Formats: sequence, C-alpha cells, structure tokens
Amino acid sequence: MDFDKVVCNCLNITNGMIKEAVDAGADTLEKVQAATGAGTVCGACIEDLQHLVDEFVSERNQK
Ligand code: FES
Repeated sequence: MDFDKVVCNCLNITNGMIKEAVDAGADTLEKVQAATGAGTVCGACIEDLQHLVDEFVSERNQK
C-alpha cells in the first residue's frame, strides 16, 4: 500500500495517517474521523475510509 496516497482530499489525509490513527486506538470509522478529521467535510471519501479502517483494524488485530 502507498501510505503517502491521499484518501481525503478535503483535508489532505493520507493512508498512512489513517493507519496511525487506527494504531493509536481508533478502531471504528467514527473514531478515525474524530481523530483525524478525515471524511468530515464533503464526505466523498467515507467509503474509502471505511475500507481502510476495516483493513487496518484487522491487520492490527492479527498482531
Ligand atoms: S474528501 Fe474527505 S471529506 Fe471531502
């Protein structure tokens, strides 16, 4: 995965920033939104965010 890829264009939030939020304890879309602000402006990235959160949470749970 490209961690420098921007997932939320409104706030310039990258895949890596979503992963950091998940690793820091945000294990739902809502918590990631609260932690990063991603998906809180136009909402166009919500679906992509949800996929990332699901993926990072399951990765984290395997550790
Ligand atoms: S692209 Fe994420 S809120 Fe607009």
